[in-house]
Amino acid sequence: MNMDEVKSALDEKLKSIKTTKELEALKLEYLGKKGVLNQIFSKMTGLSPDERKEYGAKANLLKRELEEMISEYAERINNYRPSEYEDLYKSLPGKKPDIGHIHIITQAIREIVDIFVPLGFTRVRYPEVEWEYFAFEALNMPETHPARDDWETFFIDVPADKKLGKMVLTPHTSSGQVREMLKGKPPIRMLNISRCGRRQMDVSHAPSFYQFEGLVVDEGINTTHLIGVLDYFAKNFFGPDRKIRIRPYDFRFTEPSFEVDIDCGICHGKGCKVCKGGWLELGGAGMVHPYVLTSGGVDSEKYSGFAFGWGVERTYMMKTGTQIDDIRYLFANDLRFLEQF
Ligand code: FA5
Repeated sequence: MNMDEVKSALDEKLKSIKTTKELEALKLEYLGKKGVLNQIFSKMTGLSPDERKEYGAKANLLKRELEEMISEYAERINNYRPSEYEDLYKSLPGKKPDIGHIHIITQAIREIVDIFVPLGFTRVRYPEVEWEYFAFEALNMPETHPARDDWETFFIDVPADKKLGKMVLTPHTSSGQVREMLKGKPPIRMLNISRCGRRQMDVSHAPSFYQFEGLVVDEGINTTHLIGVLDYFAKNFFGPDRKIRIRPYDFRFTEPSFEVDIDCGICHGKGCKVCKGGWLELGGAGMVHPYVLTSGGVDSEKYSGFAFGWGVERTYMMKTGTQIDDIRYLFANDLRFLEQF
């Protein structure tokens, strides 16, 4: 067999090889001690030095080519899979695993934080279980004041503290106001988002809900700052086409005080079971009462501040396009509802 024939002969034989064992035998036949290649090399002995040089180079090249052919084939055998896999319908779509997403209340909280942070607010969290003192007394609502009834508070069955009173489920995030002031000197730009608890339940009230509370304390703060910030938030969260309105109100911890409403995103102002008259209350706001500044150790002659506290769920329910007409859906953990957002 001359050199050219060797390659094509090996190629032919490789086609019928199925197993590694068969391939090993073929390798021995070509590259082994008594194999085809060595017979080719043995023919060099009778050649002149020049012929030998040329012949040797050719034979060495052939050796490399044969080795390559065999190792390539070995790889193909190793990657070989039984025929059942060869019948796979590669064009059929696969089964996708269900992928969850974060709860819409968390989505809403993140969106709210993203709007306030560029204005210089820092997100903080205060306890979900609180002392009466921070929830009421420090906010200008003494023990027997009737305004406390509005917060329909859950009391926790543990002994009261002599100074701080009874333990309660935080009824509003305003209880973080004095805690924040006691942390350090103004300027303060706090965004306190926390779970709150009240003995209430209907289409727009849940016993457990979230509020976000803004507090700004600095020199020269006035109502225009408050209205500017609320307007900025509303435009960014609800879009430029929605309206908010501010009504005078009475909170013991702000003076003057306001309530903030939005044109209802469910009925578009016509009146429905959630808003009743076309507007839905989102939260309260006002200029921090000097009593509260004093409770927080802040000089009320030098500093002034504003605060606002809104419900996270109601804010999300009023977002254009969400069309959620009962707050309780948000807590029912029904996937048919949650998957829509
Ligand atoms: C307050 O809680 C005041 N702390 C707000 C405030 C903060 C006023 C700072 C001034 C300065 P109110 O009780 O109105 O106010 O509650 C505020 C908002 O929280 C409501 O408008 C509503 O959006 C939400 N909210 C209150 N109770 C519930 C509830 N049970 N379920 C769902 N959301 C509620």
